Parts: sequence; structure tokens; C-alpha cells
Amino acid sequence: MMQRVLTLRLARFCALRTKLQLSVRPATANMSTLLINQPQYSFLKELGLHEDNDGVYNGSWGGQGEVVTSYCPANNEPIARVRQATMAEYEETVRKAQDAWKMWADVPAPKRGEIVRQIGDALRGKIKALGSLVSLEMGKIYVEGVGEVQEYVDVCDYAVGLSRMIGGPILPSERPGHALIEQWNPVGLVGIITAFNFPVAVYGWNNAIALICGNTCLWKGAPTTPLTSVAVTKIVAEVLERNHLPGAICSMTCGGADIGTAMAKDERVGLLSFTGSTHVGKQVAMMVQERFGRQLLELGGNNAIIVFEDADLSLVVPSAVFASVGTAGQRCTTTRRLMLHESVHDEVVQRIAKAYKQIRIGDPWDPSTLYGPLHTKQAVQQYLTAIEQAKQQGGTLVCGGKIMDRPGNYVEPTIITGLPHDAPIVHTETFVPILYVLKFKTEDEAFAWNNEVKQGLSSSIFTKDMGRVFRWLGPKGSDCGIVNVNIPTSGAEIGGAFGGEKHTGGGRESGSDSWKQYMRRSTCTINYSKDLPLAQGIKFE
Ligand code: UN1
Repeated sequence: MMQRVLTLRLARFCALRTKLQLSVRPATANMSTLLINQPQYSFLKELGLHEDNDGVYNGSWGGQGEVVTSYCPANNEPIARVRQATMAEYEETVRKAQDAWKMWADVPAPKRGEIVRQIGDALRGKIKALGSLVSLEMGKIYVEGVGEVQEYVDVCDYAVGLSRMIGGPILPSERPGHALIEQWNPVGLVGIITAFNFPVAVYGWNNAIALICGNTCLWKGAPTTPLTSVAVTKIVAEVLERNHLPGAICSMTCGGADIGTAMAKDERVGLLSFTGSTHVGKQVAMMVQERFGRQLLELGGNNAIIVFEDADLSLVVPSAVFASVGTAGQRCTTTRRLMLHESVHDEVVQRIAKAYKQIRIGDPWDPSTLYGPLHTKQAVQQYLTAIEQAKQQGGTLVCGGKIMDRPGNYVEPTIITGLPHDAPIVHTETFVPILYVLKFKTEDEAFAWNNEVKQGLSSSIFTKDMGRVFRWLGPKGSDCGIVNVNIPTSGAEIGGAFGGEKHTGGGRESGSDSWKQYMRRSTCTINYSKDLPLAQGIKFE
């Protein structure tokens, strides 16, 4: 037995060493240098994290697959490690989640809401620690890290109320003695694949709503934010276990494309909710569609702010700066195109460029920092490539354009003017802080430019003209899922339905009637008479 334990340990050690040697990161990823051991990151231990963490949860913890090291984007130092799921563990987890569903579906919805209320409370208790982890692992600034935990808390509150409100109408039947009823039932197991940029909130939107609808959840977070997935799941698992519920109600299998593909192809996954790039989303969509499965896609955005001649520039400048520089340009709702009426173009460019130069850059977890690093080194390369292409296509750099001389994946927030509205780079979503400024003359032109890109997530206009506001909201206005006036493109509240059209994927998450995506509708006709009248007055005698 002892021999077996030693052999296993040795095997794990060798696998780890190979991984570290293969890694392009600095060769410092040994036990003693992990950030988790440094006192200033003690919040990691408060979240129950260790040097090595199990990346599978299905009522019990496991993880026999590849070991991934999570790195801090602000300095590229290793934080800690996670053991991902093997395919056998994926199988076991899906089976356990299906088993758990059998009892969870029988729990009355308001009682499920009570569990979600407790999850929200547990998150409140850990909001600072979890926000700090998001900041350390994803790289966004501390207030934004806390902000996305707040989104999960808020959607829990929302879901608690919803747990007493979801339901269908009783419709008038054309037949005497008949009732026509809509019944909504859970889809069963909801697969949730989330992206690195919102490693807590997007899971939260799906998880809270899916739970009150009576579904169990299986989560695969981004492979580069596994510690956040583990920490969130520990908080949720504690609530389930305290209530003597099967932990598999909220399962997690950390992993890469192998686990994602398995989820997409798995007939047992009643709904697959996928957040990520349009490119990967399309592959996922094809796999799910192939089996006539249900999907909820939250893909790319290429969001525009349009500033008219009558706009209040004291709102425009902070809005454009927040939405283009916030989260270092790594929100799907980030403003990538700023369309300025020719009468205000030069003034707005000058004021925004001035504001860009004053942005406080630093460690993301430092409360005074407004701008942190990109998440990965690949993103830094994409930033450089996009700037080269923008220059080739006729763009002029107003500010930024370079990598910063400091550790970590820092790049200068960048403004580019002078590009044609339909330049290929303007129509490409590059997930970095580059803002393309376009000059327009008429409302028709600006609305058309807003809509001419493939993506359809978020959009804003700045104006005081009420006629224009309603034209913007109407059939010939913005074709996006999020259509704003006098606020930026990013920073949506949880109460509305979140998502977008066209290549953004068409899904809606979070508030409003998004819950319907997590349920299947049955149209039920019940005859309580002694006759059998047929619809449409058909006589079959
Ligand atoms: C995302 O970038 O994937 O509206 C989500 C916002 C946030 C959510 C963004 N509430 O910017």
C-alpha cells in the first residue's frame, strides 16, 4: 500500500516537473515561490485554497487529470496549482449530477430559492477575499473583482424572488370544459462553460437561475482561472452540504477543450451555456445543434458609442474612458468603436486622450489602480498585431501602442483615429484596450455603421434629442441586444436580459425572462368535460 502511495506521488511529481519544464513561463514555479505561500496573499487560504487543489467536485472532490499552474497576469508568478478532470471523472460527475437532479427537481421552487439565498449570503461573507482572488488570477482591478462577485450576489437575490414567480399562463381554450395551460419544467442538467474575463459573474448568472428552475449544474471555467472556479465551488458546496443536499447539484470539472467538447456532444446536457469567443462558440454551437441540443451563447461584441452634436460631453468622456479602458478592454461589452459627430470629434478625442494619460496603472489589487494587465501573453501579441494592422489600414495612433516596461502583461491603453468605418481591423473584435475613433456626419450613417459589424452585443448613443432616442430603440435603430442612451456600452445590471444578436450568439442570461432558456415549456390541454369536442370545430364521426 505504502509502495503504491509513493509510486503515485512520484508519478504526480514527475508529471508536474514535465509540465513546468515545458512551460514557457519563468522556471521559478516550484513550491517555495508560489504566491499562495506569501503572507500578502493570505486571502487565498481564507478561501480554502492550497498549493495543489482538486479541480473536480461532484459531492466529493477529485482531480486525476493534467495539473495546471495558475499564473498572476500582473507579474507572471505562479499562484498555485489545480488538478483537472479526466474523462472518467467527467463521466462520473455527469452521472452524479443526473442522480442529484432526481431529488432536486422534486424540491419546491421556493425552497430551491432558499438554497440560492444561502449561496448569495455565503458569497457576501467572502466577497473581499473572492474579489481579491479574481484580481490576482484574472488581472482585473480589485473593485471590478469585487463587482463581479456582487453580480453573483445580486442575481442570487433576483433568483430568490423569481423562485416564487416563474410559471406559465392559463390560456382561454376554444373548447368548452377544457383548460389550456403552460407548464414549465427544468431541462435537467445545465452545462456552463465560462470565459476568463468574468470568472465569477457569468457562472453566477447561469447557476442561480438554473438552480431555482430545478436544474443541476456542471461548470467548466476557463483553464487560466481555475483557482477562482475552485474557490467559488467551495463556497457553493459548503451551502449544499450544510443543507444535506447532494453536492453534485453544483458540479465542477476543471479542464480544457476535451471537457468542453464532451459537454457540447453530451446528450445528457439539457442546455449548454457557453461564454467565449465567436470562433469557439461556433464550433460549440455546431456540436450542440448536431444532437438537437439546446444552447445559450454569449459570444463576441464590437460595441460602439455614438456621440451626437448635442451630447453632454461631461457624460461622454468618463463613459468612453470607463468602457474602453475598464477591465483593460477585456469585457465583451467593452467599447471598441467610438463614433463622433464631426462637430465634436476633435474636442472629444483631445479630452479622452488627456484622460487616458491620467489613468492610474499598477497592481490590480492595489485599491488606487484603475488599469491592470492583460490576462495572457498571447493577448499582448494580439494587441501588437492589431496595432500594426490598424496602422497599415490607415489609422493614426493618438496615444498608447506599446508594451509597458514592467513585469506582467501590461500594454498601453490605445486610441486610434482616421480609420475608415469598414476597415477590416475595425470590424474585428480584438480583446484588448484599443479604441477606434470614427468621424461621422449624419444619424443615418452612424446607425448604419453601428449595425454593419457581424457582432450585435452592446451599443450606446449620447444625445438629448428624444426623437433620436426612440429611433435608436426602434426597428431601424441599433440591432444589438443591449441598446443604451447616455450611458456606456459596458456595466449592465443583472435585472435585464444580457446577451446579443448575430455573431454574439442570440442567448440571454441573467434577468428579465432569461429563466425561460433554462426550462422547457409544455402546452397542456386538459378536458374536464364529458364530451370530446375537437379544435377548429372538426367533426370526426
Ligand atoms: C462579459 O464581458 O462577458 O455588462 C460580461 C457588463 C458586465 C458583464 C460583462 N456586467 O459589462
